[in-house]
Amino acid sequence: MRITILGCGYVGTALARHWRQQGHHQLQLTTTSPQRRAELAALADAVHVLEGADAAGLQAALEGSEVAVFSLAPTGTSQVGAEAYEATYLRSFEALEQVLPRLPRLRQLIYTGSCSVYGDAGGGWVDETTPPVPRDRHGQILLASEQRLQACGDGQRRVAILRLGAIYGPGRELEPRLHRLAGSTRAGDGASFTSWIHRDDVVGALAWAVDSGLEGIVNLVDDEPLTVRELCERVLTAAGLEPVRWDPQARPERTPANRRIANQRLHDLGYRLRHPRLLPASNGRPANPSA
Ligand SMILES: NC(=O)c1ccc[n+]([C@@H]2O[C@H](COP(=O)([O-])OP(=O)(O)OC[C@H]3O[C@@H](n4cnc5c(N)ncnc54)[C@H](OP(=O)(O)O)[C@@H]3O)[C@@H](O)[C@H]2O)c1
Repeated sequence: MRITILGCGYVGTALARHWRQQGHHQLQLTTTSPQRRAELAALADAVHVLEGADAAGLQAALEGSEVAVFSLAPTGTSQVGAEAYEATYLRSFEALEQVLPRLPRLRQLIYTGSCSVYGDAGGGWVDETTPPVPRDRHGQILLASEQRLQACGDGQRRVAILRLGAIYGPGRELEPRLHRLAGSTRAGDGASFTSWIHRDDVVGALAWAVDSGLEGIVNLVDDEPLTVRELCERVLTAAGLEPVRWDPQARPERTPANRRIANQRLHDLGYRLRHPRLLPASNGRPANPSA
């Protein structure tokens, strides 16, 4: 099958490597940066240098492909602004909509979206039937981007949106990310839920989405939403570091959106998670002995 991966960062590059190793797809990859051509060429049949909003570039990268995987994310060292989200997601899907009539072979559009579209649910469960209520401008743009992409679907062309939890995996391990919190006192009680997904499962689910001809929205998170408190405890204990102390009297500057993301649909559709839980439990026993 001929496939274009748009956006070859942490996920897109791992996906390209996976398919390259399997050897049964023809791969077109994109980057915004000419300096990455050589690196990506080793994984691809062709590399296209483009911004997603560049309709002509997008058309060239998608010409002849049956599947497009959009794994774009704005890059930046500090907090990325809402305008960068607009430029990356919304403008890319607007450009896609423009060129689709000239891409008759393209029959599946897959996008790695985000659970942040759900907003806050006061710690309750949300699933794909829950109306999304983003709580900030970034989430609103992501939701508008999903809607824009969904509008590209029709009887001939399927649209699949995977709503991802926070990604961890090789090079993005939790311990270095939480290390600096060891022994510190944090405002609040750390009771907000977070949802995670290992990069192996992002790659696995994207490959499965292609193989199964997936259509519609599917949450891509592991089986175990964890509170921030549990997360810190597990990661720091496993690393032999001091735990975090919580000060419920102090008001945190900003709390994460608090909701538990259900992944029943992912299971019902037949995807088997390679990493159903984040880490071994802090008592040293595996959290899921059957895994
Ligand atoms: N990271 C998370 O925890 C998380 C959570 C929820 C959802 N997601 C979603 O998962 C996907 C993959 O995330 P990731 O961690 O792999 O992101 P990443 O490492 O930042 O990679 C994203 C890639 O997108 C490309 N890109 C950026 N702006 C672009 C533009 N305007 N046009 C075309 N390409 C552009 C960049 O490619 P070049 O640098 O080569 O130009 C970059 O490498 C994203 O869609 C993200 O929204 C991620």
